[in-house]
Amino acid sequence: LARVLSGVQPTGALHLGNYLGALVKFTRLQHETETFIFVADMHAITQWQDPKLLKSQVREIAAAYLASGLDPKVATIFPQSAVTAHAELAWIFNCVARLGWLDRMTQFKEKSGKHKERASVGLYTYPVLQAADILLYKATQVPVGEDQRQHLELTRDIAAKFNHDYEVPGFFPLPEALTQGPGARIMSLRDGSAKMSKSDPSDYSRINLTDDADAIVQKIKKARTDPEPLPETMDELKARPEANNLVGIYAALDGRTSEAVLAEFAGQGFGSFKPKLADLAVAKLGSVGEAMRGYMSDPAEIDRILDAGAARAREVAAPILAEVKQIVGFWG
Ligand code: TYM
Repeated sequence: LARVLSGVQPTGALHLGNYLGALVKFTRLQHETETFIFVADMHAITQWQDPKLLKSQVREIAAAYLASGLDPKVATIFPQSAVTAHAELAWIFNCVARLGWLDRMTQFKEKSGKHKERASVGLYTYPVLQAADILLYKATQVPVGEDQRQHLELTRDIAAKFNHDYEVPGFFPLPEALTQGPGARIMSLRDGSAKMSKSDPSDYSRINLTDDADAIVQKIKKARTDPEPLPETMDELKARPEANNLVGIYAALDGRTSEAVLAEFAGQGFGSFKPKLADLAVAKLGSVGEAMRGYMSDPAEIDRILDAGAARAREVAAPILAEVKQIVGFWG
């Protein structure tokens, strides 16, 4: 039986990469199978977060979920910190995961920078908490961007070692990362070799979900490209990272493959392709931004949705955690 789970950190404005790599997929999958989508506030504090702002950041992610089409009557939407079982299972998994496995995590290396001795211990064990998020619900499918693949592999390793060491074959499923499609790795608009990210100092590198139509058009107009027209074949396109990225964005926004988009636009220069991409982006994202602002104007309603989601998540998680504690030999 398939169960979908994913989450997003409340650490700043969401961008087109988060939207195409994650949110759009959540919305599609909720109609296919049982879906749990949370706001990862426990992950957020692995790097300093102002406590006065954290709750409103959580609400903003929830608003983005709702604005992009997640339906709280269909999907379970909740704040991670409202379900304490995440932390309990993470502790057990801290004792299953090996130091050598965590030493290989590239995201820790990127986020801790030059002074890793000053990073929080939480930042280091971050992927273990992520494994707990997923396995607490015995989720089988995890829609994420490409950058989360390594964390999903670690989740599978933890599940397999737990099943093996405690002699409970098949107790935890080995969840699969859903990273198909052109939206899984959206690159910076200023540099086709860097991922679009919240932390890029240049706002022109990304399109934010809250950008208005003018900003979207300007950012696409200024996006870095080469002077050649769009090629005929995917092989030629892949050799041109900026062109490949813009075609991929068009495809993901339109729910098509890059091949299909290329078949339509091959031979055209960016002078004609960019305005079409801008029109599409404004049409798709404009309404999301507007809906987000609508939800944000009624925080009490968001809180009601998140509290109800947390109650439901606790119900599903409780018997699974109870079984894990029994397997491990814990009290109570
Ligand atoms: P976060 O908050 O960094 O990003 C949220 C989602 O957006 C995807 N993403 C992208 N996709 C395509 N192109 C990009 N440029 C791009 N940038 C970000 C991410 O892959 C992610 O899917 N560790 C997770 C949060 C998390 C989680 C989980 C996810 C915590 N527990 C359990 C799944 C399951 C994170 O930091 O995502």
